[in-house]
Amino acid sequence: MAASEAVLQVVCGSSSYDFHNVRSNKSKGFNTRKRSSVHVQAQLSSRPFRASKGKRVFHGTDKLESLVCNCKRVESVNGDTNNNHEGAPSKLDKIQNSGSLDEIVTDSTRHGEAMGLDVAVKHNNGGFTSKDKLHIDGLSRDSLNKVSGNSIEDEAWDLLRSSIVYYCNNPIGTIAANDPSSTVILNYDQVFIRDFVPSGIAFLLKGEYDIVRNFILHTLQLQSWEKTMDCHSPGQGLMPASFKVRTILLDGDDAATEDVLDPDFGEAAIGRVAPVDSGLWWIILLRAYGKCTGDLSVQERVDVQTGIKMILKLCLADGFDMFPTLLVTDGSCMIDRRMGIHGHPLEIQALFYSALLCAREMLTPEDGSADLIRALNNRLVALSFHIREYYWIDMRKVNEIYRYKTEEYSYDAVNKFNIYPEQIPPWLVEFMPSKGGYLIGNLQPAHMDFRFFSLGNLWSIVSSLATAEQSHAILDLIEAKWAELVADMPFKICYPALDGQEWRIITGSDPKNTPWSYHNGGSWPTLLWQLTVACIKMNRADIASKAVQVAERRISKDKWPEYYDTKRARFIGKQARLFQTWSIAGYLVAKQLLANPDAAKFLTNEEDSELINALSCMISANPRRRKRGRKKQSFIV
Ligand code: GLC
Repeated sequence: MAASEAVLQVVCGSSSYDFHNVRSNKSKGFNTRKRSSVHVQAQLSSRPFRASKGKRVFHGTDKLESLVCNCKRVESVNGDTNNNHEGAPSKLDKIQNSGSLDEIVTDSTRHGEAMGLDVAVKHNNGGFTSKDKLHIDGLSRDSLNKVSGNSIEDEAWDLLRSSIVYYCNNPIGTIAANDPSSTVILNYDQVFIRDFVPSGIAFLLKGEYDIVRNFILHTLQLQSWEKTMDCHSPGQGLMPASFKVRTILLDGDDAATEDVLDPDFGEAAIGRVAPVDSGLWWIILLRAYGKCTGDLSVQERVDVQTGIKMILKLCLADGFDMFPTLLVTDGSCMIDRRMGIHGHPLEIQALFYSALLCAREMLTPEDGSADLIRALNNRLVALSFHIREYYWIDMRKVNEIYRYKTEEYSYDAVNKFNIYPEQIPPWLVEFMPSKGGYLIGNLQPAHMDFRFFSLGNLWSIVSSLATAEQSHAILDLIEAKWAELVADMPFKICYPALDGQEWRIITGSDPKNTPWSYHNGGSWPTLLWQLTVACIKMNRADIASKAVQVAERRISKDKWPEYYDTKRARFIGKQARLFQTWSIAGYLVAKQLLANPDAAKFLTNEEDSELINALSCMISANPRRRKRGRKKQSFIV
């Protein structure tokens, strides 16, 4: 059955689609991946391995010979790899502690030469961060010379390249931040899946495809691992939040090393939360890779197809839900700390919707996948209906909620989720412009989270989860609320901040998420790229250009911070990393897309007409719009 038929049949009530069948198929595990048969292992000559400490790591033996050769004596720069001789400071320590630039450059260059590398610096806990640039105080020597004369864009490219992580001599990702002034590295030396997306897009738009291809295939390898926390494993198909390249000494040979990939699925991350967004971003990037390069061979590979299906299977699994939205815990996306977004946060729903559409485009039809595609189509329709109908607020809707009747026990209640009008927060009355609107952050029984979450709203535009009318209204709101959402640095992660007792209860008194800081109303330059894609899609690129100009006033001078604090984004974030890679990449993608708006198509999803049809069936069947007592409409497809 064609996908479109399935959509219409289910929505219009004439479905022959059997949910029980899907369930039983699901339980048969139609996609269970056998580690031994993973295609990419053969292609990349890599093998998974359980290290002696009981930690699963991934050993790459791709081009091992040259790696072993290149990495000889690597122990002298990497404290992680081996102990420094008699506690002597490592080269990296020296670099960080020394005041003299020339001394550092000369010393490290010599060291790089001695290692047989072009001039590579070993990052404290990971692979080589750069093959050809030495990174000092966040700027390569090259870029230090260039900054004054050349543009911010040139500087950004130098910095982005300096953040590249190599695995078996191949570029595989970019580290989260390359901030030598930071004393606590935590996991910022890792390659985060979500953080790499703007880097990957910047490279794709530049015509540098290898790093993205490598990233896609290697992270796919990480997906199939069983990860356990206190005897419990998350579902198969989960993608890690981040991974690290470790260089370890080979047993019995103190001069030879090999690279291993070590993923974090949340079992080490602060809060121990599984990253629901990683797999969704992976699918979105995979589709962008195919569209941009024209090389569909990656997405057509058997292992990649299996990877897509595993992610879908995990997301489409039946649970206790009454809603088509994904139910997740706090901290499972960009906001990866407790911020009261557990439930059905908009960001996850928008990425989910986008990933479903991207996956549908890429899945190759085969016998076993008909049920999955049908389930996917059903979910697309139900999800877009649910979000468009129940998450949308504007002046008219707020007024409707203000006059809601409550405790309506019936099938055709108007106030379906039993929202008490007293919930309307005072700030909303000020914030809601007369022209414009947005999708709320979350919806639960008797609870609407009225906060404006930027990524969720922007990606709802990009993915067409929001209607065209709603998408324009969101951009209208951004224009009307420029002082709140952009001010001195684009873009506020959410508005407004949680304060006082609310902050204490909802964040658990999180000292990093104090009001107007970090996830709690901080401003994140990386969001520039999503803003740009959304604006270009709606033919309103001027909004994004204006935001880029605001960013250009200080982002480079401020050393590319991770986020800004205060209501108007006036201070560099208290604990913000400098030289945060996705701030750099986000800016670059915005610039590239503004120069070549057509390229935004690699990222956007157009609404398809079958979905619109199916939706209009649903909307006219919706009790809110149906007169009481009228017979249920039936549709002939
Ligand atoms: C912070 C952000 C998260 C990001 C990570 C690495 O934890 O909240 O979204 O992936 O830093 O930059």
